[in-house]
Amino acid sequence: MSTSPRVPDHPRNTAFAADPETLAGHFGEAKGLLPLWVAEPYVELAPEVTAALISRAGSGWYGYEVRPPSVLQAFWDWMAARHSWDGTGLNTSVSPSVGTSVGVLIEQLTERGEGVILQPPVFTDFKALISSAGRTVVRNPLVLTEDGYRMDLEDLAAKAADPTNRMLILCNPHNPVGRVWTAAELTEVATICARHGVFVLADEIHGDLAIPPSKFTPFGSLGHSGVSWASTHGPIKTFGLAGVCDTLLVTDDKRIAELFQTRGSQLHLNRNNVFAVAAFEAAYRSGGAWLNNLLDLVATNLTLLEDQLPDDINLITPEGTYLAWLDFRKLNMDVPDLSKWLASSARLALSPGHWFGREGAGFARMTVAAPTKQIQEAIDGLANAIAERPE
Ligand SMILES: Cc1ncc(COP(=O)(O)O)c(C=O)c1O
Repeated sequence: MSTSPRVPDHPRNTAFAADPETLAGHFGEAKGLLPLWVAEPYVELAPEVTAALISRAGSGWYGYEVRPPSVLQAFWDWMAARHSWDGTGLNTSVSPSVGTSVGVLIEQLTERGEGVILQPPVFTDFKALISSAGRTVVRNPLVLTEDGYRMDLEDLAAKAADPTNRMLILCNPHNPVGRVWTAAELTEVATICARHGVFVLADEIHGDLAIPPSKFTPFGSLGHSGVSWASTHGPIKTFGLAGVCDTLLVTDDKRIAELFQTRGSQLHLNRNNVFAVAAFEAAYRSGGAWLNNLLDLVATNLTLLEDQLPDDINLITPEGTYLAWLDFRKLNMDVPDLSKWLASSARLALSPGHWFGREGAGFARMTVAAPTKQIQEAIDGLANAIAERPE
């Protein structure tokens, strides 16, 4: 894998992560910040995918396009080979984004005012999708123990027992804390949700990013009976294709798939994007070696953080995702001060932890799918900022 950054250090391109206005809006300044705050790989993407896109662009034909069966087959071949998950008997629907799938299922499976359970600190969009649909965010916070983050299953059972709480959005692997939930943990969740008729929407968009020896268990692979579920997948996080907009929704329940597809037809959400079709198949057919290299790079960068982070900053070592969850609580800074200090003193744009829920206060998230020299630069920035802090 090339170690040249895809987003240059201080770029002036259209990457959201590096957009000066966005940076200034979030971090108070933009100039000279190292942007490691958005969850995407900041390295050269899989050459097979780039080649497929260039070839598609060169075809001169961009009209309406069918999605040949080989495209979804590529996904299921990949799932079988990498995650021992066989799609036989499952319903697979195409969706432009995870957010689209989550929004449509909230709308279709819950009523206004009903509760959707989240496990904060968790990916920011879920809360907005629930609230903007007039549903209630019900919090089942993760618990940080000496052995890392755990689910509070007792609290989950209590929340699930309330008949107005109809859905759980599970994040597996979990953004931002990096847990790859075990089969045993997922089975407990399934049992609780089955008992109380709570629908499980498992967002598994980071599923390919379990860091060996951790192994990703797709929620739908457990074969538990009685729980109603769907899961989101796709190449967008793994292969840096979020801007290409092509994901999948998988469920074993024909009724759920039909509800989703009907709403998708009403809104024309199921139209194929010619570039997405090309990139999707290329990623799943030929991106395996690139992904293995990416995971090696992530492991190397995590080791560097473990070894070299200043003493006052603690890495919550992730089992999956390319996101490092950094604990700054020893510095005793309040929420606005921490963000400001990271930008102004460490010259870093990181996602402040409170974006993911109040449990994230005092933490920040750093993308580590980046050239090792950038992670070293980030560590040096943090070390300098700590050294310059007044006693
Ligand atoms: C857990 C998780 N789900 C969903 C998304 C976003 O997916 P989309 O852009 O397809 O809505 C992200 C992006 O970082 C994410 O981390």
